[in-house]
Amino acid sequence: MPALVLIGAQWGDEGKGKATDQLGGLVDLVVKFNGGNNAGHTVVVGEQTYALHLLPGGILSPGCTPVIGNGVVVDLAVLFGEIDGLEARGVDTSRLVVSADAHVIASYNCTLDRVAERFLGKSRIGTTGRGIGPTYADKMNRIGIRVQDLFDEKILRAKVDGALALKNQVLVKVYNRKAFTVDAVVEELMAYRERLAPMVADTSLLLNRALDEGKTVLLEGGQATLLDVDHGTYPFVTSSSATAGGACTGSGIGPRRVDKVIGIVKAYTTRVGEGPFPTELLDEDGERLRSVGSEYGTTTGRPRRCGWYDAVIARYAARVNGVTDFVLTKLDVLTGWESIPVCVAYDVDGTRQDEMPMTQTEFHHAVPVYEHLDGWSEDISGAREFADLPKNAQAYVRRLEELSGAPFASIGVGPDREQTLQLRPLV
Ligand code: IMP
Repeated sequence: MPALVLIGAQWGDEGKGKATDQLGGLVDLVVKFNGGNNAGHTVVVGEQTYALHLLPGGILSPGCTPVIGNGVVVDLAVLFGEIDGLEARGVDTSRLVVSADAHVIASYNCTLDRVAERFLGKSRIGTTGRGIGPTYADKMNRIGIRVQDLFDEKILRAKVDGALALKNQVLVKVYNRKAFTVDAVVEELMAYRERLAPMVADTSLLLNRALDEGKTVLLEGGQATLLDVDHGTYPFVTSSSATAGGACTGSGIGPRRVDKVIGIVKAYTTRVGEGPFPTELLDEDGERLRSVGSEYGTTTGRPRRCGWYDAVIARYAARVNGVTDFVLTKLDVLTGWESIPVCVAYDVDGTRQDEMPMTQTEFHHAVPVYEHLDGWSEDISGAREFADLPKNAQAYVRRLEELSGAPFASIGVGPDREQTLQLRPLV
């Protein structure tokens, strides 16, 4: 069996957690391939709600091996905090595997993330403040600390020493902060070594062998297409490759092993942090989407910016990821509107554009061209098949599908595992 990639098609928080969790029961391994604890998945299993930040969704599915791939940046305190939290609730986390090549978020990078944002003032990105950007920057700068370095203290010390030679200058001289000592950083990281040791593996080898044996691997992207460092709304993006291409580099498997690319798309749009957002609603409708959809960050608790469905973005996501199937989420949140606008194109300085504009300047000027679809008032949270949906809800879904560039495989009508209408199988 081949590998499946699952990615967010908008600005994140599309409901990937629920989709990964559902697929987790059907696949043998779930791999997180990018990002770190900037992500936030809310998974509802029966009466229980779990908020995961760093651990892959498959952790909640017995029989599924969760893998933290080389493309992830790992905050070890968060990792073990999350493991302890799940264990205390009776979830077995012993299957977790962590790549020896994954980079570690050192405490100086959390500090740098926060002070740099403050320093940027009005130009800030609105990061999660978890040290993600500085850690990926270190990786590219070749001064990063990797999981494997914890198992060679001499090397670890040399690397921390090298990184701090630069970082302390910036912290003290630019940001007026206290310097970090090599001893304190090394001691902090080494404290996790013993617990980490049994989880660490060559995950590229493990995944390729699993695929050779006919196992199914789900590669789960953190954040989303428009937060991707290459394909997102740069510079208002995260620092990793959140699109389907990142699934290969972030896990160590070749692109020819990927059979399906599943794009998760919400029936409306949200974004956290700064940056352009053409369909954003700053009125009562936006407030209503936020409160009905509980649109508050899982990681930071920040209220999410809300707006109507943007089909230009969905088509763009279909294109840059090669989406084979879309999973539409949170359709139930739209119940009760008489008419629902859907953005089908942009007006950019008087010119209609049906595709994502080439430049960021144009995207900042993009004004949505809306098509108005009829709404529905019936409660749809109990629907289990497409035919159970009111006619107008069916028409809304079908129109979105026509506009979005790939077929819809399932529709979410509530947070629970059961509140899903399956249109075609994903695995
Ligand atoms: P960073 O990933 O903390 O560097 O933040 C960069 C941008 O990505 C900010 O706008 C964040 O709000 C956004 N971001 C990061 N992770 C997520 C996520 O899981 N969902 C939504 N937005 C995110």
